[in-house]
Amino acid sequence: MSTEGLLAYCRPGFEPDLAAELSWHAAQKGLPVYAKTQKNSAYVLLLGAPREQLAEAIPYRELIFARQKYALIDELQGLDVQDRITPVLEALGGKGRYGELSVETPDSDDARQLAGLAKAFGNALRPALRQRGLLTDKPNPKLPTLHVAFVGNNHLLLASSTENDRAPWPMGIPRLKQDPRAPSRSAMKLDEAILCLMTPAERMDLIAPGMQAADLGAAPGGWSWVLAKHQLQVSAIDNGPLNADALATGLIEHIRADGFHWQPPRPIDWMVCDMVETPSKVARRMAQWFANGWCRNAIFNLKLPMKKRWEETALCLDLFTAQCGKPVRIRAKQLYHDREEITVFARLDRK
Ligand SMILES: C[S@@+](CC[C@H](N)C(=O)[O-])C[C@H]1O[C@@H](n2cnc3c(N)ncnc32)[C@H](O)[C@@H]1O
Repeated sequence: MSTEGLLAYCRPGFEPDLAAELSWHAAQKGLPVYAKTQKNSAYVLLLGAPREQLAEAIPYRELIFARQKYALIDELQGLDVQDRITPVLEALGGKGRYGELSVETPDSDDARQLAGLAKAFGNALRPALRQRGLLTDKPNPKLPTLHVAFVGNNHLLLASSTENDRAPWPMGIPRLKQDPRAPSRSAMKLDEAILCLMTPAERMDLIAPGMQAADLGAAPGGWSWVLAKHQLQVSAIDNGPLNADALATGLIEHIRADGFHWQPPRPIDWMVCDMVETPSKVARRMAQWFANGWCRNAIFNLKLPMKKRWEETALCLDLFTAQCGKPVRIRAKQLYHDREEITVFARLDRK
């Protein structure tokens, strides 16, 4: 009998949080499921309900701790390493037509060692699938993608995904180049948040030269520098020193103040916040900005040093939404460049 359900990837160490999040979503839809996972494996299986039902009930875009989400077709264990192709073909049962094959590994230390093997296996599997009419000759993004994940030498996960319900990047990891001029590595978090949490239309409409922004907890200036790259005028709030290159942009004004008390003299377009504080305190302050009409858009980080990170996240996002006092759309994700934290994009909902 096949093992079907969902397969989702996460940052290694965050499996319990992803498992809790997936289980919560399934429970909301009344689906009886259980999560199967191992610490530091960088993936979670959600089992116990048909994969189509689960995939539809739990859309990728609503998940915070999942870097990627697929419908699990089968888990193949104890394979003969001389022939892994036959069991894969058997598990597919001659069914399905795929527009692309992706052979990959979760992002764990152990699985990453198998990347070379995965590549070679993909080269061997591709013609075998084509011969049986299961894979198109040329990539076709309109058809589902077939994923084979190597989690061990003799242990594979077989899954599928559709274009509108997965991260567009392999394994859910956007490959961003670090700009050597950036004042801090954190700059990449804001670059990634703008790319992953905002739609192309939002990036066009909501970020424009000359807009006013505040950066709370700005030092040494990575996020302010990213905003300045987009030609925004930035008030950088921090008692710590700002990097000289950031200040040299001429678009950043350093204000030595407490980010929990400073408020803009008049309403502005953007507020971003990377202050290291308890997440509920940050969520409350972020909500005050929207409640008081001080900003229309925000990107903020919630630091999660505690054990039950999914529970804390859900609490803080509920608190934020409740205290905004007006309709605000939010999207949250643990980004690739996020460590023990998640990033939230919030915008006034003007419907
Ligand atoms: C993680 S760092 C920010 C890094 C920054 N986003 C960057 O890209 O360079 C956190 C910053 O928050 C500042 N911070 C913490 N609490 C603050 C507060 N109450 N008011 C202002 N800044 C604060 C710290 O001084 C520190 O510089």
